Amino acid sequence: MKMEQIAVMTSGGDAPGMNACLRAVVRTAIYKKLKVIGVKRGYEGLVNQEFVRMELRSVSGIINRGGTILKTVRSNQIKTPDGLEKACKSIVENRIDGLIVIGGDGSFKGAMHLYEKCRIPMVGIPATIDNDVAGTDYTIGFDTAVNTALQAIDKIRDTATSHERVFIVEVMGRSRGFIALEVGVASGAEFILIPEIKYDLNKICESLSTAYKRGKSSCIIVMAEGAGNAFAIADQIEKETGLEARVSVIGYIQRGGSPSYRSRMIASLFGKHAVEVILGMKQGDPPEVVGIRAEKVISYKMEYVLKNEKKINRELYELAQILAT
Ligand code: F6P
Repeated sequence: MKMEQIAVMTSGGDAPGMNACLRAVVRTAIYKKLKVIGVKRGYEGLVNQEFVRMELRSVSGIINRGGTILKTVRSNQIKTPDGLEKACKSIVENRIDGLIVIGGDGSFKGAMHLYEKCRIPMVGIPATIDNDVAGTDYTIGFDTAVNTALQAIDKIRDTATSHERVFIVEVMGRSRGFIALEVGVASGAEFILIPEIKYDLNKICESLSTAYKRGKSSCIIVMAEGAGNAFAIADQIEKETGLEARVSVIGYIQRGGSPSYRSRMIASLFGKHAVEVILGMKQGDPPEVVGIRAEKVISYKMEYVLKNEKKINRELYELAQILAT
């Protein structure tokens, strides 16, 4: 059966560059003579049949915009048999021959469940600030989030130095430390706390006391949100060292804003490649994911994402330790 119409959605937490990716999917698909349906609010919109026809002009002026014009939801319905049934019905009734899902690993889990039920070609495009999708070096939005956090930390360094304080800066990442690690290296953080690597707070306190005695005038501890309680850590540092410690949680600012050059580039490359991949698939083929490895855009089985955990770059962690002394 010839593929005539595809649907595209954004799903899960938004990420800067999702719009740029949507633009690339829509324009490449139309270039390849496909019709495109935009699904609003991720899987919720698929279940509830909230669709918009996507034309070339539907994606004008969005390459530089953060968020997602299609809106996004962390869907619960797609986890239920009833929701899956409705989603499949919606696919059949609206003559959707293929589905492109722009989101993170949670969204790909939904795609796998859907595939088991309705077997249409599906391609996932990794988009999450957390960069925690196995098989791809980078996800859409990560670079922007790291740059946002970096700018914030540079500013925090100014006030930290003036007051000779210790700052614990909490960044996002859910249970993973990719943002913390990269922003920690790039900001010259003295310590990086991530869930993947054990840390000893007593040792950190000892090093802090020694460093301040030697004349250090500020310290930045970049901490992933999943690596503990920033406020409890600040309390312990104050008690054990007598230094003043403050907490700054960067939070959702990291999810917004205009995508960086790099986020726009991979969004555009992933979007185009996803359309090419889906066009090469036939009914019953297992879902694929696009990604980038060593600067090459690739595709691989979606199952890989769900069965593997992306590894943290320990060399980068060591680099941070060497450079922070
Ligand atoms: O997955 C992206 C992310 O921003 C994580 O870094 C964070 O833990 C989570 O989403 C927040 O989720 P929510 O938008 O549901 O509050």
